[in-house]
Amino acid sequence: MFLYGDKNVVHIIKNCKIVRGEILDVDIGIEGGTIKEIGKNLDGEHLFDAKGMLVLPGGIDVHVHFREPGFTHKEDWLSGSRSAVAGGITSVVDQPNTDPPATTLSALKEKIKIAEKKSLVDFGISAGVTNENIPLIEGLAKEAVSFGEIFLGKGRDAISYENLENAIKAIKKTSLLPTVHAEDEECVEKNKIAYKIRSPHPHSLARPEECEKKAVLKVIEIAKRENYRGHICHVSTRAAMERIMGNEKITCEVAPHHLIFSLKDDEWLRSRAKVNPPIRDLRDKNFLWEMLNRGEINILASDHAPHKIWEKEGDIKDVKPGFPGVETMIPLMLNFVMEKRLNLERILDLVCHNPSKIWGFKKKGFLEEGFDADLTFFDLKEKRKIRAEDLHSRCNWTPYEGFYGIFPKITMIRGNVVFEDDEFYVEGGYGRNLKDRVKAG
Ligand code: DOR
Ligand code: ZN
Repeated sequence: MFLYGDKNVVHIIKNCKIVRGEILDVDIGIEGGTIKEIGKNLDGEHLFDAKGMLVLPGGIDVHVHFREPGFTHKEDWLSGSRSAVAGGITSVVDQPNTDPPATTLSALKEKIKIAEKKSLVDFGISAGVTNENIPLIEGLAKEAVSFGEIFLGKGRDAISYENLENAIKAIKKTSLLPTVHAEDEECVEKNKIAYKIRSPHPHSLARPEECEKKAVLKVIEIAKRENYRGHICHVSTRAAMERIMGNEKITCEVAPHHLIFSLKDDEWLRSRAKVNPPIRDLRDKNFLWEMLNRGEINILASDHAPHKIWEKEGDIKDVKPGFPGVETMIPLMLNFVMEKRLNLERILDLVCHNPSKIWGFKKKGFLEEGFDADLTFFDLKEKRKIRAEDLHSRCNWTPYEGFYGIFPKITMIRGNVVFEDDEFYVEGGYGRNLKDRVKAG
């Protein structure tokens, strides 16, 4: 399995274009899975010639739902991680809403065992935090890389604000990051009535921006009081974003679908457009773009939430919320680079550098000496129409059907080519747990 992982031999990849403010032409030397040297005319064993391809550090997607255990008809660790690799993602953080949920030590360990056996990509498991498991936080921290996404509410799988504050006190002692799905449950309950109103946008009306804003304000308040950091998942509105900005303790992520879709897409996506938080209006979308380009948004994460197409068709109130996205995130963004809507440096911050820094993953997320040789190789001139049948998720559909993306030709993890020209070169089990890589926050 270890093709190029030998110690004491430096393998050279010739003619790489890398991003350093400008684009530089360099060779990259790899030893034992680590980037050993970056420079001109390096000496060592020839590995391959990148022929001027753009080489980026592998993407870190901090928000995926790989659905195993429990929902393997939608996805499992093998299909999810193959989808990741084929989209230039080399590390993922998996979310706890599986069955059983990753809210107890035994469930968490069971999930880690599965991922160790089946994942192609390096992975961290995020532990769930609920009204019932606060006493378990200290123990969960021994296995998890973060806490969340935390859902707000009174139920078993969620947490009240009061309990959230207690949970944050416990999480603070572990120095791990708490991540919150910021939608206020009471507000969502109150607005459910909107499903009964005739509207082209029932789901967006049923979860209005005030629900997100309210939850964000509460999280900020708690973070300030407890003097501890917090992370807001998939921010979708201007109202929430404006509250987050300028708070030193709060980081946030945005998902591609909130940058790509707006209410007018309900027309053709119909019930498939359901996602939480919902698709918003054009003003919100444009504001997120502005903040993305200004560097106010820390992370781009897919919120890869695969559901079968039959789980997405029907009455919008009953269908499952969520889109697959781990494989299309970087390709769509690189296409935006070609359309001059985003620059390359910004993408690297959003999907490589900042996820690594915020989660504290040592030696991940940078194309620099001493870091893992997690590398992705692209030909920016080769855009491709996205088709569900070409993607690798088990859910077999994508909301981006017919959109353009620039996909990696080669994905390398820790010095080994794991994917090239649509072939996989490692088996499930290659991926490693990132737990022992997490630096204390
Ligand atoms: O739309 C969503 N789907 N939002 C979430 O927060 C969860 C996710 C899922 O797991 O399906
Ligand atoms: Zn979420």
